[in-house]
Amino acid sequence: MPKRTARKPARKPTRKKVAPSKGLTGPRVVVVPPGPKSKAALERKERFVTKGLRVGLPLELTRAEGPFVQDADGNVYVDLGVGIGVHNAGHRPASVIQAAKDQLDRLTHICYMVATYKPYTDLAERMAEICPPGLTQSIFLNSGSEAIENAVKIARAYTKKPWIVSFRTAFHGRTLLDISLTGKEKPYREGFGPLVREVLLMDYAYPYRDPEGRSPSECAKARVEEIEAAITRPEVDGQVGMLVAEPVQGEGGIIVPPAEFFPLLRKLCDDHGILLVDDEVQAGMGRTGAMWAVDHWGVVPDLLVSGKALGGGLPLGGVTGKKEIMETPGPASLGGTFGGNPVVCAAALEAIKTIEKALPKVPKLEALMDRRLRELHSTYERIGEVRGIGAMWALEFVKDRTTKDPDSELARAVQLAGLKNGLMLLTAGYFNNCVRLLPPLNIPLPLMDKAFDLLDDTIQMALSGKA
Ligand SMILES: Cc1ncc(COP(=O)(O)O)c(C=O)c1O
Repeated sequence: MPKRTARKPARKPTRKKVAPSKGLTGPRVVVVPPGPKSKAALERKERFVTKGLRVGLPLELTRAEGPFVQDADGNVYVDLGVGIGVHNAGHRPASVIQAAKDQLDRLTHICYMVATYKPYTDLAERMAEICPPGLTQSIFLNSGSEAIENAVKIARAYTKKPWIVSFRTAFHGRTLLDISLTGKEKPYREGFGPLVREVLLMDYAYPYRDPEGRSPSECAKARVEEIEAAITRPEVDGQVGMLVAEPVQGEGGIIVPPAEFFPLLRKLCDDHGILLVDDEVQAGMGRTGAMWAVDHWGVVPDLLVSGKALGGGLPLGGVTGKKEIMETPGPASLGGTFGGNPVVCAAALEAIKTIEKALPKVPKLEALMDRRLRELHSTYERIGEVRGIGAMWALEFVKDRTTKDPDSELARAVQLAGLKNGLMLLTAGYFNNCVRLLPPLNIPLPLMDKAFDLLDDTIQMALSGKA
């Protein structure tokens, strides 16, 4: 029998215990941002992290809760970008964090290609319940980009047609295939070619910048006619198998298409044997006031791509689609080591619940955002347009309302000035001239109202060059 040895006394943990972020309130600016700690952090970033990864805000962030984030210098900001549309029910909802912690105590990783585990299958079942009717099978990946890649693989396996329709002002991710589906050369594509050739980049229905000034409905019709003309050109006729579209374009500058656009795209796809792939990575998961933005357009896509908010703050992407399509790729042809990791799937199951709980709050938030943004639009000539849906809005800055010449410097100045007022803002837009607002769906309305007062002041600061 092995000799029993005396139990060693438990070693004291060497790491300092981190106090939870409970009770974070704001906005509160105690040091003009970027403060010394953020500056020092950015210097370290310059030394050790590639400049290909640009940091938009000169801040080092240390903690977050609900609608607030805190930087290393103690400033607290209202987060109107929520990690680029991830924390749709605010930062770190207690139930999501608890579910992830519980799962960490059970099984962190095994790989779904090795053996099944419940959180993954539960999440797939949940997606079948919450996705548009008929979309019943899923695969989970590590990011929105990887999910788009998989959607293309699945669509090609099903249709056996290589060509893809996408949009110039779209954004579908950062991999080589994903940047092939994106029209914006700089910073996404430049220097990274050759890209995937079989992509037709078309114009999205973007009424504000319609070159012929058509009505939204005419613009939608004209854009779909252009697509029809492009896919029936002899070089590609009969070879287009998929059209991928964001139901509201996010990076492109919160472009809300006219109501006719998606139904017309659906019809076009049906007429030509093309799969409609709905990229809900940014607009989905309650962001627009419906679980999926495509629900507003009364259209059922063939494949739905999810990401961002799905993982409740942990990395997750998904493709959910019709069974006959999802089943075409051969056995073992899809997958990956970490995709749909148990901890992330456990968090996602709770994240969905938090979003469902927050959804009824969106109409009032939408009404507030609409009203306050229209006021800003009528105050400042340099705001060309405000637009949005649900909790997904943008202000598009221009040098002149008549020429609509995009003003990216002003958008950037507003973003930076926002920090001084305790606002975390994101920019967006094909011309980088939009400030986008993606608050948590459950942000208290008085706080959002206050954020608009601060935004008003911020725009004045930026316009007067005092930023
Ligand atoms: C619409 C859309 N699709 C795909 C992606 C890529 O997702 P990820 O950054 O998780 O790879 C994004 C990211 O912003 C997105 O907005």
